[in-house]
Amino acid sequence: MAVLYVLLSWAAHAVVLLFFLIFAAFLGYCLYVKYIHMKYDHIPGPPRSSFLFGHSLTMLRAMENDGGVHQKMLEWAEEYGPVYRLNTLHYILVFVYCPETTKDIMMSPKYPKAELAYRRIVNLFGQRFLGNGLVTAHDHEKWYKQRRIIDPAFSSVYLKSLMGIFNERAETLMSKLSDAADKKTETNMLHLFNGVTFDVIAKAAFGVDLDLLQNITRFSEAIDLCLKGMIYYVRDVFFEFKPKNKPFINKVREACHLLRITGAQWIRERKTAMQNGEDVPKDILTQIIKSAGEEENMTEEDEELMLDNFVTFFIAGQETTANLLAFCVMSLGRHPDVLEKARKEVQDVIGMKQEVSYDNLSQLTYLSQVLKETLRLYSTAPGTARYVPEDRVINGIHIPGGNTYFFNSYVSGRLNTFFPDPLTFDPDRFHPDAPKPYYSYYPFALGPRSCLGQNFAQIEAKVVMAKLLQRFDFTLVPGQSFCIQDNGTLKPKSGTLCYITHRNYD
Ligand code: HEM
Repeated sequence: MAVLYVLLSWAAHAVVLLFFLIFAAFLGYCLYVKYIHMKYDHIPGPPRSSFLFGHSLTMLRAMENDGGVHQKMLEWAEEYGPVYRLNTLHYILVFVYCPETTKDIMMSPKYPKAELAYRRIVNLFGQRFLGNGLVTAHDHEKWYKQRRIIDPAFSSVYLKSLMGIFNERAETLMSKLSDAADKKTETNMLHLFNGVTFDVIAKAAFGVDLDLLQNITRFSEAIDLCLKGMIYYVRDVFFEFKPKNKPFINKVREACHLLRITGAQWIRERKTAMQNGEDVPKDILTQIIKSAGEEENMTEEDEELMLDNFVTFFIAGQETTANLLAFCVMSLGRHPDVLEKARKEVQDVIGMKQEVSYDNLSQLTYLSQVLKETLRLYSTAPGTARYVPEDRVINGIHIPGGNTYFFNSYVSGRLNTFFPDPLTFDPDRFHPDAPKPYYSYYPFALGPRSCLGQNFAQIEAKVVMAKLLQRFDFTLVPGQSFCIQDNGTLKPKSGTLCYITHRNYD
């Protein structure tokens, strides 16, 4: 009995001691957070909604509203100026809309992608996702090695050779639109654009005929799930611990897994073809395989890196362009004068020709302006982040070193300081004779870490839009929302619903 009493008494002391230690550690952490607040509170920023969680709860609430966190960031930029700060736990997030700093940081290879911002998309709920692929790699040397090898698949010579694929896949979309016009039914344009951009990336990047337009497969759902999972995982640290989210998280893991096993299969098939001396295209898949190194020395990490890049291209190369096309149709539908001008240009340049040639692309200058203006208002991949080790002074405000700077092209594109009357859709802002925006317009990011697929996306978007304008009239279904849905990438909430009719050339 006495032994039991002694044991219980020890246990009670141990519990009290443990409780005390946890409390002391918590108190110590709170003091550290207080110190961080004192160190950074001279940088303007909105009031914190919680001492510990800083602005996270405000951001999570904003996610539920139309426009999501980006609209909130815009309101803060308007209120607090070109540099402001947000807190979450002991982290500081510095948001910058000052062109000089944007130029200094984004254009220089000195500032790597910020680990704080990208590490949560390396893995998604414990399943490897973008890994150390091109978008997420933050070590400059490792990133540069990959980029140098993959670059040739985006050279203008190679892209020119893809015109056949761009035209052919866009034709499949045209026959879908023709069916919709015959049936006179409501058409979800985003859905169709997702099909065509999938089709193009699968064929042009990986040499695979998916024909998703005929048969929308599990891939589009998988990408959608991964992106949705990504924003919850990145923005809500507690999301994975809430039991009600378990079924969704399992679906996201399965979706990531599907993309990776598909990648493994396509890579295996391509490697076999290469080993058999078959004539394989010098496409993205071939370059991804080359970037992983020699077969004999290939490590498990090299194998994973190939899959990281496969998933990276599958995701980066598809959604953003489909969303751009859907926003473009939405904007043209709301601005008949712009639509007419773009259509007239297409008629002048392409006429009744079925093929859009590489030379035609540079002649479609107004269409380029329309696409640029669409991305100004609807930047489909709006954020990027860099780690800045040294102290800086921005707009007279001292920013201590060792922080992450965020740049948001949705915000920048909608600030009155850079684009007067910002909500007006006016492609003439990008007229060849108009002054170029000075480091305030960057829907494809800027500098060494800018989008590798920028030209690819622009060619694809132009070919699709030129054919669409050449052959169809469209009107927006009345009553639909013109709001933006934040799904990691930005897309039109309604999907851009249209009534399509054949163009009458009489
Ligand atoms: C309208 C379409 C597109 C937009 C708006 C867009 C936008 C962007 C942005 C903003 C980044 C920087 C991301 C960051 O810093 O975290 C990026 C990176 C990237 N994008 Fe795109 N993108 C588009 C289409 C494409 C396409 C079609 C491909 C491939 C076929 C592609 C491949 C990539 C790759 C590989 C990177 C990483 C580049 C690097 O860090 O070396 N993108 N894109």
